[in-house]
Amino acid sequence: MKAVIATKYGTPEVLELRDVSKPAPKATEVLVKVYATTVTSGDARARSFNVPPSFWIPARLTLGLTKPKKAVPGMVIAGIVESVGTGVKRFKPGDQVYAYDLTRLNAYAEYACVSENQALALKPSNVSYEEAAAIPFGAVTALHFLKKGSIRSGQRVLIYGASGSVGTAAVQLAKHFGADVTGVCSTANVALVKALGADRVIDYTKEEFAQRRETYDIIFDTVGKTSLADSLRLLNEGGAYLQAVTSPSLLIQMKLASRRSDKTLVGETAYPTADALTHLKDLVEAGRLKPVIDRCYPLEEIVEAHRYVDLGHKKGNVVIAVEHA
Ligand SMILES: NC(=O)c1ccc[n+]([C@@H]2O[C@H](COP(=O)([O-])OP(=O)(O)OC[C@H]3O[C@@H](n4cnc5c(N)ncnc54)[C@H](OP(=O)(O)O)[C@@H]3O)[C@@H](O)[C@H]2O)c1
Repeated sequence: MKAVIATKYGTPEVLELRDVSKPAPKATEVLVKVYATTVTSGDARARSFNVPPSFWIPARLTLGLTKPKKAVPGMVIAGIVESVGTGVKRFKPGDQVYAYDLTRLNAYAEYACVSENQALALKPSNVSYEEAAAIPFGAVTALHFLKKGSIRSGQRVLIYGASGSVGTAAVQLAKHFGADVTGVCSTANVALVKALGADRVIDYTKEEFAQRRETYDIIFDTVGKTSLADSLRLLNEGGAYLQAVTSPSLLIQMKLASRRSDKTLVGETAYPTADALTHLKDLVEAGRLKPVIDRCYPLEEIVEAHRYVDLGHKKGNVVIAVEHA
């Protein structure tokens, strides 16, 4: 089968399309014929090993000391179950599924094995494989953080970085939970963020959100660009600061700040679960969450797709379509 191999850490050119053996499912695994995957910001970071110096050692131990441990990159798949291991109970051949895993999925390939105990679920039935693949990375993360912030109807919520994969999902999910949503993005993305349901949009190229006299119940920074001090000042009593992008020093600052404040401060990894994927499937089928796709590339153009994601300006998600002979 065709698969993309990451030969070493580095620029997109380290990714090579090769012929490799088709994997066989173990007892608790399903074999998925992959029709779509994505290039997430996480994939780009893992490929380039662009991590803060203080995360270097733990990240190398997880991802691979001298080169990527996981030869086939990618975290998300959408496809059809081709066969199942002898012990699999939740899935059968023919099921249309999607899956998301931070480290164990070999997604950039024609076929991938996934344990039925991983974040694997039936895909939303009303969208294509490409659209289904655009859901997990951003929406699992957004759902995790908004729940950690105990989002409730009527709250005022600021989504900083409203145009990325996490941000476009966060705007829609916050509206789904009944919040009054302000999105922060650049001029080019104002129309998109409004169309996703934001009640108002702040263009960060023209105005600092912290200069406004507005206060919020939740500030969710999806791109790691807000100041903790500004955000705490703008949060209402009992409010929540949610930070998707952390560093050891920011985590220490957040820990110290939470000791002297009534506010909830959350900076952590959002691990995917099958329950989250099933919840998101229901929301997509109910029309409450729409996949946002910026560009779609064939698997053969994986290097181009990574180059585009490396620019850091994608709107929502970059999807890879996997064609089968
Ligand atoms: N904690 C977790 O579990 C978790 C999970 C997933 C992702 N993450 C992290 O979350 C971050 C975002 O991920 P993502 O996939 O959503 O990223 P992404 O899609 O690559 O984000 C790109 C978007 O951010 C916008 N942006 C860039 N600079 C900005 C700024 N200063 N202010 C506002 N918007 C800005 C870009 O538009 P413009 O350039 O036009 O503004 C673009 O639309 C990444 O660092 C990722 O590693 C964390």
